Order: sequence, then C-alpha cells, then structure tokens
Amino acid sequence: MLEDDFSDVLRKAKRGVEIDDEALGNATGLAPARISDWTRGDGIPSDDEARALARVLRLDPGKFADAAAQRWHPDVALPEYVRHHPHDPHPSNGYLFFLQDGKTAALIDPAGLPQTLMNAIAEGPYALRYILITHKHEDHCDATADVARAFPDAQIVMHRADAFAIGPLAAKALPIVDGDELPFGDAASIRMLHTPGHTDGSSSFLFRSTLFTGDTLFAGSVGGAAGDRSTYGDILDSVRTKFFALDDATVVMPGHGPPSTIGEERAHNPFFTSR
Ligand SMILES: [Fe+2]
Repeated sequence: MLEDDFSDVLRKAKRGVEIDDEALGNATGLAPARISDWTRGDGIPSDDEARALARVLRLDPGKFADAAAQRWHPDVALPEYVRHHPHDPHPSNGYLFFLQDGKTAALIDPAGLPQTLMNAIAEGPYALRYILITHKHEDHCDATADVARAFPDAQIVMHRADAFAIGPLAAKALPIVDGDELPFGDAASIRMLHTPGHTDGSSSFLFRSTLFTGDTLFAGSVGGAAGDRSTYGDILDSVRTKFFALDDATVVMPGHGPPSTIGEERAHNPFFTSR
C-alpha cells in the first residue's frame, strides 16, 4: 500500500495550488460535487477526468491517471546495510543503517516506543554514532530523550529551524546545513540535504546510494506543506533540485510508506511532470 492514495494526492495538490472544487470544476468542466467525492476517497475519476484535473493542478496527467487507477507500485528491497523499525504507536518509519563492520550505526528518527528502538539497536549490537532527525513532528522525534540517555556518545543531528521540538537537547544537536558531510567510519560519510517545505527544517540524509527522505518525499507522493515559512512550492523545489539530481538507482527510504527509488519517482510521482 502506498502512503498516499489518489484522494490524498488530489487534496494536497488542490491545497498547494490554492484552488477549491468550484473553481476546479469550472476549469475542467467536471461537477464540483464529484471532485469533492473523489477528494474524500469516494470513487475515482476515469483516465480522461484525472488528466483534466492534473492539467489544472499542475500535476503530471499520465502519472495522475495511473495513481487513480492504482497502476503503479514500487517493488524495492531494503539495501543490506539498512534495517527498518516500526515507530509504534505512530504510523511512521524509522531506520538504522550501518557501516561494513556491521556494528557502527546511525539511527534515522528516534520516535515511538523507546523500547522498540532499544531492542532494534541491541540486536546488532550496534555502536550508535548518530541520531539523525528528519524533522520536528513527534512521530519522528518523540523518543529522542530516551535514545540520547541510553546512548550518550551518539551525536544528535537536526536542523536548527526544527530543533526546538526536542527541548533542552536542542542545545546538543549539531547545527547542520545543506550539503554538510558527517564523517562516518574511516572512509564513509553521510550527506545532509536541507529540503524545506514539509517543515522549515526538514532534512534528508544520503548514505552511499540510500536517501532517507523523512516526510519530504513518499513513494508516489510528497508530504503536506506544514512549514511556518516554507511552502508547497518549496517541497516540490526541494525534490526537483536536490533529489532528482541524484542517480536513478538511489533508494528512497521515506518517513511513511514503502521504499522507492529516485528513478521510480521520476517516472511515476504525479507531482513531477515528465519532460
Ligand atoms: Fe511530518
């Protein structure tokens, strides 16, 4: 199951371009009541109707029609150096990834029941070097204090604009900016990409050929624009300029929903028009 179905994409795009059902109906010749139904997840448009909506919403018509008909689902395996762990009771994804030694690890998003995280780290057992936080929402960082207490040597990394969410620990967080490289082991590094839009401090992390995207990019969708200053346009820009500059084979590990790749997203994500 994708994180966002057709109705979610429709809702986010309508909000993003600031158009209501009445105006969208006028622009497409479709009945506003039907557009409202589709936005609620009640029924789906035909291919032609989806294409008409996409043209006004600045989505890719073919990809949006595919989303309505559920014609695409990525089938991407986790890289061998990445482990997924649930964020119970949150619906978000957390990840651990590690160096070739199989021991030195970094954690993406400490959230959910702390014991679940402790168990995941103990399983290696891993020496935790970094606690990397993609953004300020509690389903991505509400277990930071517990993990930091259990692993005092792990460096917290979080963009300054979002760091207030972890309270007094914000003072210990490495203030990181776009393009910074975090040394990881002797020969590796983790690159931080500042990708504002979902929140002002939204950060993505690239390790080898794996990109942890938080709530900036999901398989077939993007996160909602919930920033104080940053906007829907910023989210799309972040993906276009920072993510789509990466190799097609780069694996995308999102904060919600299944993994994907940059190539799959370029080819199928309706928010991005093929040229
Ligand atoms: Fe979020």
